[in-house]
Amino acid sequence: MITLNLPILLSAISGCLLQLVQGQAAGYAQCGGPEYTGPTTCVAGYSCKVQNPFYSQCVPSSEIVSSVKSSATLVTSARSSSVSSKPVSAAPTTSPSGTSGVKCTGTFSPISASSFVAALNPGWNLGNTLDAIPDETSWGNPAVVAATFDDIKAQGFKSVRLPVTWAYHFAGAVNTGTSPDWTIQPTWLQRVSDVIDMITARGLYVIVNVHHDSWIWADVTQENANYTMIEEKFYRIWYQAAQKLACKSSLVAFEPINEPPVNTAADGARINTFNELFLRAINAVGGFNAQRVVTLVGGAEDSVKTSQWFVRPNASYTNPWAIQYHYYSPYDYVFSAWGKTTWGSAADKAALETDIALIRSNFTDVPLLIGEWAISPVQTEPAARWRYWDFLIRTAAKYNTATIYWDNGNDNYNRNTRVWRDKTAADILISAAKGASNSLPDGTTDASASEQSSSAYVWLRKGEAAAAQSVPFLLNGNTFKSVSDGAAVLKLGSDYTVSGSNITFSAAYLAPFATDTAGIKANLTITFSAGAPLALQIVSWAPPTLSSSSSKAIAGSDLVIHVTYNGIHKPATVRALKADGTYLVDDWTVYLPVLQQARTTFGSQWRWDWNQESVTITSSAVDAVIAGGQSVQFMIEAWPRVSGNNVNYTLTV
Ligand SMILES: *[C@@H]1O[C@H](CO)[C@@H](O)[C@H](O)[C@H]1NC(C)=O
Ligand SMILES: *[C@@H]1O[C@H](CO)[C@@H](O)[C@H](O)[C@H]1NC(C)=O
Ligand SMILES: *[C@@H]1O[C@H](CO)[C@@H](O)[C@H](O)[C@H]1NC(C)=O
Ligand SMILES: *[C@@H]1O[C@H](CO)[C@@H](O)[C@H](O)[C@H]1NC(C)=O
Ligand SMILES: *[C@@H]1O[C@H](CO)[C@@H](O)[C@H](O)[C@H]1NC(C)=O
Ligand SMILES: *[C@@H]1O[C@H](CO)[C@@H](O)[C@H](O)[C@H]1NC(C)=O
Repeated sequence: MITLNLPILLSAISGCLLQLVQGQAAGYAQCGGPEYTGPTTCVAGYSCKVQNPFYSQCVPSSEIVSSVKSSATLVTSARSSSVSSKPVSAAPTTSPSGTSGVKCTGTFSPISASSFVAALNPGWNLGNTLDAIPDETSWGNPAVVAATFDDIKAQGFKSVRLPVTWAYHFAGAVNTGTSPDWTIQPTWLQRVSDVIDMITARGLYVIVNVHHDSWIWADVTQENANYTMIEEKFYRIWYQAAQKLACKSSLVAFEPINEPPVNTAADGARINTFNELFLRAINAVGGFNAQRVVTLVGGAEDSVKTSQWFVRPNASYTNPWAIQYHYYSPYDYVFSAWGKTTWGSAADKAALETDIALIRSNFTDVPLLIGEWAISPVQTEPAARWRYWDFLIRTAAKYNTATIYWDNGNDNYNRNTRVWRDKTAADILISAAKGASNSLPDGTTDASASEQSSSAYVWLRKGEAAAAQSVPFLLNGNTFKSVSDGAAVLKLGSDYTVSGSNITFSAAYLAPFATDTAGIKANLTITFSAGAPLALQIVSWAPPTLSSSSSKAIAGSDLVIHVTYNGIHKPATVRALKADGTYLVDDWTVYLPVLQQARTTFGSQWRWDWNQESVTITSSAVDAVIAGGQSVQFMIEAWPRVSGNNVNYTLTV
């Protein structure tokens, strides 16, 4: 039974519209609006309903009648779905007097989905913030400030995807909410609205969604999932959000739900139901929502599952729509798993292109956007990373697909210092999105190589005399323009020479850096006739060392190994071998190339964070050591990945 705790604005139901009129407009067709000149009555069984001041629509009379008859009746959607059990949702309830839908005073400039998607490209995600649990700052990010969006815009991004988790922001039972109203705290609705305004005030497009709710309470793959509850709650969240945001401009789009879990075709069908309930809710509210762009989703926002199971929305909805999917592939490279630190072979590129081409070939007439992708500067090697950033943006563009970078606050843009941690990557992205050709650093792309080279660096082995060094680039049609060290432009001829696509630094230029102290000796910037400038660091390096090289495993505790990095201050990989020579995890990596065997996975077995003079072995890896019943040698590899650039730590049981 419905209890109205808050005044709920209702979809318009005026008395005259309740009449059934033998009419001309088809079910779900338009039947009214200021610019509208067609029939204003509907075919039998449908009634003309004012969705907003600009748009009236023929909807099943049964829906209107039942909601008018009883504000305490849950109305079953007449037109969802492909799933066997009908979604039941708390349809907009009505007050006895029947107030009308949200009326907006401003103007709305309609925009097509294809124009919206083109205009938002490229975009940036305000990750781990309004989606954090339980609150905005819970995952380490500062509260959102408008200056962030000044910087995002100045860098050249055109849009912000704004992930929002609604769980933990309900009235009453804050974490879970309360059936049937699922009332959201007004302060949270206001916060979301205010952040949207910060973004749109700068002329940036924004996509707002329902985010981690997808696994917190809306996971349809759970055994015993209460679909009635899930659909009711989902509808009510969108109803309230759409009501609060009903009069936002056409810069604002909605995305029903982030990465909803799916395993089967039946789950996939339930995601189609989410899309349907979402469209139904936002249209029931009124305001400008019937004209608002939406980015619909398939299972997990995965391109393959979307291709398999996505069903187009009922054509009666007037919302311009696109499909959003997410792209984190290949898994091993993206997530720094199993020592995969190279990227950019012909096979790597072909695999990425195939993925993007496949979903495009399935949806030739639908605007597509990749709403999340990332290769984080935290733990990936720059030359491979920059090639990936360039190739992804360029390949997406080739298939008329927009992209929105996932930035969790710890990845690239530092919201505290307002500095891009990897400005080169951000510049490459913007330049590629504009269609300019970027020159890129060369480096090992063959994962089966025994060492990894990188033209993001000039490596000087500490203590050795400097010799001239050639650094190859992928010019991609450009020519070298200049090399500078921040203070001065290097001299062509004496400091360096150019030969084909190589820059060769002279022994004389490098000599002063070949000192007895390891570290970054110079930060160079290389410019080209077109495209983004590239960073290149001159680094004196030696293998890392430890102050203590062994300890006893403590169950359930992370192990922080203090490391003196002599060069680049971060680990490349961590290998874990048991005393008997078998692997701590993932035995099958024995079949991988030599630089990947027995290597563990970032986040699962080890972590590193900015400015951390250590590496953290996770508690789950420590527990695996204990479970294995024998000591384990953790080999911490540093950059560059060459023979001998490592140090060993033994964890005993
Ligand atoms: C749209 O919804 C109406 C009303 O339920 C239904 O008659 C029609 O078949 C639907 N169209 C599609 C394409 O599903
Ligand atoms: C499922 O959810 C509905 C709506 O919230 C609720 O009325 C019903 O009791 C729930 N069913 C079970 C088995 O928990
Ligand atoms: C999408 O592509 C898959 C193959 O990946 C194919 O099985 C499916 O039928 C396609 N769907 C549509 C709607 O074209
Ligand atoms: C470019 O440098 C690489 C070494 O990094 C070298 O093998 C190659 O011969 C050089 N090419 C030219 C044209 O100098
Ligand atoms: C080079 O840049 C890094 C930051 O990436 C900084 O820590 C270092 O001090 C700089 N070194 C020089 C010599 O400018
Ligand atoms: C670490 O151990 C491996 C053998 O597991 C060895 O090849 C490597 O040289 C060791 N590293 C150092 C710095 O001793």
